[in-house]
Amino acid sequence: MIRITSLVLLATSLVAFSSPLLPRTAAEIESDIEKLITDTTALDTSINNLTTAGIVGVGPLEEDTTTLLNDLKTAVTDTTGTGQLDGTDGTTILGLVEELEPIILKTLEDLVSNEPLIEVFDKELKGITAFVQEELANLASSTEQFETALIEIAPASLKPTASAIASTINAGFSTAIAAYATAT
Ligand SMILES: *[C@@H]1O[C@H](CO)[C@@H](O)[C@H](O)[C@H]1NC(C)=O
Repeated sequence: MIRITSLVLLATSLVAFSSPLLPRTAAEIESDIEKLITDTTALDTSINNLTTAGIVGVGPLEEDTTTLLNDLKTAVTDTTGTGQLDGTDGTTILGLVEELEPIILKTLEDLVSNEPLIEVFDKELKGITAFVQEELANLASSTEQFETALIEIAPASLKPTASAIASTINAGFSTAIAAYATAT
């Protein structure tokens, strides 16, 4: 009994050890996008709570941004580690991206709406505007890496749709970055 348990433990730790080297799968990308949907929704909730929470609401905003950035990095790693998607996986993943797209756009719009409030916070605690500017740039860059990786492995027939979604999301980021660029 003891020996079997040890073997199972050994096997489990070997799997855990070797898994970063294994090719990633479409299923992993799907679960990554589901996480991004959850993370972005949480970030949007924190943004919209800024008016109620006041300056302490920046804490949750920071935590949500860190979580989202980490999960975006994982998504990029999983996507670059996955080979060309077949039509079925490609369509499933595109469907999830189409779910994520409006959530990202709404979050960016809400961030823009809260720009005057962030400027007020910055008068009390210098650096809040700079923090938002920096995190926006980081999010835009990681999101773009994820888009590029996804378009790369998308089936040819889905690439135009995927590229169009990427352009729309990038434009949303540009608008938000511009809104904060004039802030002091
Ligand atoms: C909004 O902020 C307040 C004050 O920090 C907090 O108690 C509340 O849980 C927040 N609500 C949401 C939905 O995050």
